[in-house]
Amino acid sequence: MTQRIAVIPGDGIGPEVARIGVRVLESLGLPLQFDWFDFGADRYLRDRTTLPAGFMDTLRREYAAIYFGAVGDPRVPGNEHAKGILLAMRFELDLYINLRPCILIDDRLSPLKGKGREHLKFVVFRENTEGLYTGTGGVLRQGTADEVAQEVEINTRKGVERILEAAFAYAQQRGLRRVCMADKANVLVFGHGLWRRTFAEVARRHPGIEAKAMYVDALAMDLIRQPEAYEVIVTNNLFGDILTDLGAALTGGLGIAASGNIHPGRVSLFEPVHGSAPDIASQGKANPLAMVLSGALMLEHLGHRREAQRLSGAVEEQVRSGARTPDLVPLLGGPASTTEQVGNELLARVSAAP
Ligand code: NAD
Ligand code: IPM
Ligand code: MN
Repeated sequence: MTQRIAVIPGDGIGPEVARIGVRVLESLGLPLQFDWFDFGADRYLRDRTTLPAGFMDTLRREYAAIYFGAVGDPRVPGNEHAKGILLAMRFELDLYINLRPCILIDDRLSPLKGKGREHLKFVVFRENTEGLYTGTGGVLRQGTADEVAQEVEINTRKGVERILEAAFAYAQQRGLRRVCMADKANVLVFGHGLWRRTFAEVARRHPGIEAKAMYVDALAMDLIRQPEAYEVIVTNNLFGDILTDLGAALTGGLGIAASGNIHPGRVSLFEPVHGSAPDIASQGKANPLAMVLSGALMLEHLGHRREAQRLSGAVEEQVRSGARTPDLVPLLGGPASTTEQVGNELLARVSAAP
């Protein structure tokens, strides 16, 4: 049966990398149908549409997955359309797991002295539906000397428990031994106290797995010092956002960092960790590999494990010995190629792969 994929390329380099990602996915010969949607800054500025009414229901009813580029545009400085597009899908489709693998695919990509592939292979489970991201809060007396601005961090027992459980289940299924939770329970005693108590309970249900809770500042330091100590990291929405840009920098940069926004068994969204990169948009410099690897995560979610491995294998080969965009030149050396050149080579590799 054909699986339908909603493609939302978005802004900036989003469309540049989405074009390559879809071409590569199409080349696999799977029964996938790609439908393109123009939601993003242009559309928002034209007619104020973020996502049209009824679109969430259409996604739930008719689509197996969403393949998303990036949103963000200097003409929308308040980023309202990102809230109405990306965050709206994360929240309303209840995509509570933001899965962000930070796995080194070539020793030369590591910025850490003496740390290679055997040291850098952790996965982050970022809570994706609550925390500081819900828009709860407001401003009082705006523009006066007495202005008050607040954002409220939402932590629910159910929301915290399900992301913790997902992290432990992932470790268990893959034979991993360690889960580390990052919080700031020494200061945020109410919300992160809830995380600590729930973590202890969920950990008791998984006795074979070493469970450690850490303060996020200490973890940020330790990820640089001894990344090999971490296999699965689970944390809240904001800390997960920050730690995964750090994780990307440890494993080759945003140009190759992939993610999945997942609700198991439901329509889920796959996107690179990076944004719309207005500084390099329209210059043929964007690295399409993060988008391609996000496609591999999508294929796994859709049950096409073999093809997912074929894609990630081709990306590894590409990084090892193929053309590269400028972001990877400081790490790998050699001349810089364009987005299109990297895409074309990758396409040839995928077709040649067994
Ligand atoms: P960014 O990720 O867009 O860019 C950060 C840096 O990484 C830039 O120097 C950029 O050139 C580089 N970079 C990013 N992706 C790259 C790629 N594929 N190849 C080569 N270099 C790449 O983050 P930013 O500059 O902080 O944000 C730009 C806009 O994107 C903002 O509007 C922001 O809100 C938005 N954003 C969106 C998403 C998303 O849609 N999921 C994620 C992050 C940021
Ligand atoms: C990400 C981005 C988003 C986030 C922004 C664009 C809302 O930084 O996906 O990492 O903060 O979640
Ligand atoms: Mn981010």
